[in-house]
Order: sequence, then C-alpha cells, then structure tokens
Amino acid sequence: MIPTPDLSHLTSRDFDKVYEPAEDTFLLLDALEQDEKAIQAKKPTLCLEIGSGSGCVTTMLAKIVGASNAVFFTTDINSDACQVTQRTGRHNNVLSIESIQTSLVESLLPRFSQAIDILCFNPPYVVTPPEEVGSHGIEAAWAGGIDGRQVIDELLPFVPQLLSPQGVFYLLLINENRPTEVVNIMCTQYSMQAEIMMERRAGRERQYILKIQRSS
Ligand SMILES: C[S@@+](CC[C@H](N)C(=O)[O-])C[C@H]1O[C@@H](n2cnc3c(N)ncnc32)[C@H](O)[C@@H]1O
Repeated sequence: MIPTPDLSHLTSRDFDKVYEPAEDTFLLLDALEQDEKAIQAKKPTLCLEIGSGSGCVTTMLAKIVGASNAVFFTTDINSDACQVTQRTGRHNNVLSIESIQTSLVESLLPRFSQAIDILCFNPPYVVTPPEEVGSHGIEAAWAGGIDGRQVIDELLPFVPQLLSPQGVFYLLLINENRPTEVVNIMCTQYSMQAEIMMERRAGRERQYILKIQRSS
C-alpha cells in the first residue's frame, strides 16, 4: 500500500488559495493505487497532471512510478497551485516535478505529442454560471460552467494527441457532467477506449473515474 503524500507542510493559509484535497482527490488516488501494478508495468517515463492543486496526486503517482524513473509535469492555471505542487513534491522527496502555470496543456503541444504515459485530471466540475469559468484563483478549482463540463470539454480533443501508444488518462467526473456521454464522445469522436473504472458517493455528489486509452 502506498501511503497518501504527507501534506503537513501546508497550512490553512495555503488552502485559502489552493484546492485542499477532498473526496474527489482521494478517489483519484484510489484509482491510481488500484492500477499500481498496471502503471508500473508500463514503465512510464513522462507523466502529466492537469490542475495539480496541492500536488497530492502527482506526488502519489511519483511514489507508484518511482520518482527517479520518470519526469512528472504538472499544469495549473493558478500560480499558487504551481508553487504548492513543487513544495509538496520536495516535502515528500519527489524532486522530479516540473510545474507550469498554463491553461490545460497550452504550450505543451506539439512538444509532448503522443508522449504522455500517464495523464490525470481532477477538473473543475461543479455546475456554475458560464461566466465563473476562467478565474486564476481558488474559484478555478470548482467552477465548471454549463453541466460542469466547460473546462473538461475543452481538454477532450487534445487527449488523443497527448497520450503515448500505451498512455492512460484518469479523469474524475461527477454525475452532473454526464460521465457516460463523455465515454461515448471519447469512443465515437476520438476512437479511444473509455470506461468508468470506479464510482463512489461523496455526500450529495456521485463521483466517477474514467479510464481512457487508445483502442487496441
Ligand atoms: C478540483 S481541483 C483539483 C486539485 C488537485 N488535483 C486535487 O485533486 O486535489 C481543480 C484544479 O484545476 C485547476 N484548473 C482549473 N482550470 C484549469 C485550467 N484551465 N488549466 C489548468 N488548471 C486548471 C484549478 O486551479 C485546481 O487546482
């Protein structure tokens, strides 16, 4: 069992500016842990987490993959999140995290074309008025706009471009995001293989992990 990353270096002042890990984070961690052996068998060399927040997910992924076996890139639209991600890595002896402040994967393509072995995203998924999307502060952690899908839908077309031939994408969604519709979009529009690999109730939310990869 891989221990959850130590976040004792972070205080409530950090979490005023950066998303504090919650049930959605832990569901994503559980999905990675469930796939631990399959991830290790791929011998990943390049991993990317979009929207890294505290850095908890990437740090856990680095523990699974082996911090010195791969490079771990993260992006976040929130500059504080990028700094906190780096601090979390260092606090947990993971020195191979490169954090970039950008929206989704802007500036990473074409450099990372078909290169990402493990891709993770716990997106801003809450249904909000569309104008709330696009902040660079803490609101960006949850504001998902119409159906909570605005940021998610912006990323989907880039997934086939990003994933390596053996690449896997772990995406967290909630019921309001219509996870089966996202599965169908990835299968029919982008010819990928997609499935719901985990689901869990968290208070009033029903949360899902989608696992997306190339069709074999
Ligand atoms: C629900 S939080 C998840 C944080 C962390 N990965 C976790 O699981 O605890 C969503 C994160 O996505 C970031 N984010 C929102 N919109 C983004 C965008 N367009 N590009 C990159 N990051 C974004 C937010 O700043 C926030 O850190």
